[in-house]
Amino acid sequence: MEVSVLIPAAGNGERLGLGPKAFLRVGGKTLLEWAVGAFQEAAEVLVALPPGAPVPKGLRATFLEGGRTRQESVSRLLEAASLPLVLVHDVARPFVSQRLVARVLEATRATGAAVPVLPLPDTLIRPEGEGYGEVVPREALRLVQTPQGFFTALLREAHAYARKRGLSATDDAQLVRALGYPVALVEGERAAFKITYPEDLPLAEALARVWNA
Ligand code: CTP
Ligand code: MG
Repeated sequence: MEVSVLIPAAGNGERLGLGPKAFLRVGGKTLLEWAVGAFQEAAEVLVALPPGAPVPKGLRATFLEGGRTRQESVSRLLEAASLPLVLVHDVARPFVSQRLVARVLEATRATGAAVPVLPLPDTLIRPEGEGYGEVVPREALRLVQTPQGFFTALLREAHAYARKRGLSATDDAQLVRALGYPVALVEGERAAFKITYPEDLPLAEALARVWNA
């Protein structure tokens, strides 16, 4: 795969409360090992680590220091990317199938920007105070995952535009859209969920036992 994989892994995992997720072990491997392992076919893998973190040994990846926000970490990774396509993937999502990567890449090659999304399984509401409020039609909404794919030049332009305008975003597709370019949607996967809260850990441990992708 002639693609640069960018893994922002410089977060502190505050909601989980177990230190930086890059070094968190699930199924006997760190989340960083899971993430890098999912992209073995990639020509280049770049990882942003928390400042001062030890550089992991034995991983086929290039490491650099992350920034204060995810966006800053991705900006730094983008500067170092040397190939015309990038895949940006959160270290917090260990279960990435080859099929998911292939879908994102195919749509990225065709359109320049593509992200995996999922429909919402639950009823959605806007609470009124402490109580049940207005129902938000879930059919119109999607959950956005990673890996997200982009023409490298397009994502660089989007990050530069965001810096100039002072925009901040929780993912990269938002910045491409803010620049005025469309972002294609492909089907995501429930397994690619983000380990965010302590309750997510036993789910990840259970999935790690049967994961084979
Ligand atoms: N990230 C990063 N640099 C930062 C902040 C976040 O590279 N300064 C990365 C995280 O390592 C993670 C992704 O961006 O891969 C965002 O996922 P998230 O669940 O928010 O991870 P954390 O920021 O580590 O967790 P929290 O927000 O709970 O502190
Ligand atoms: Mg975060």
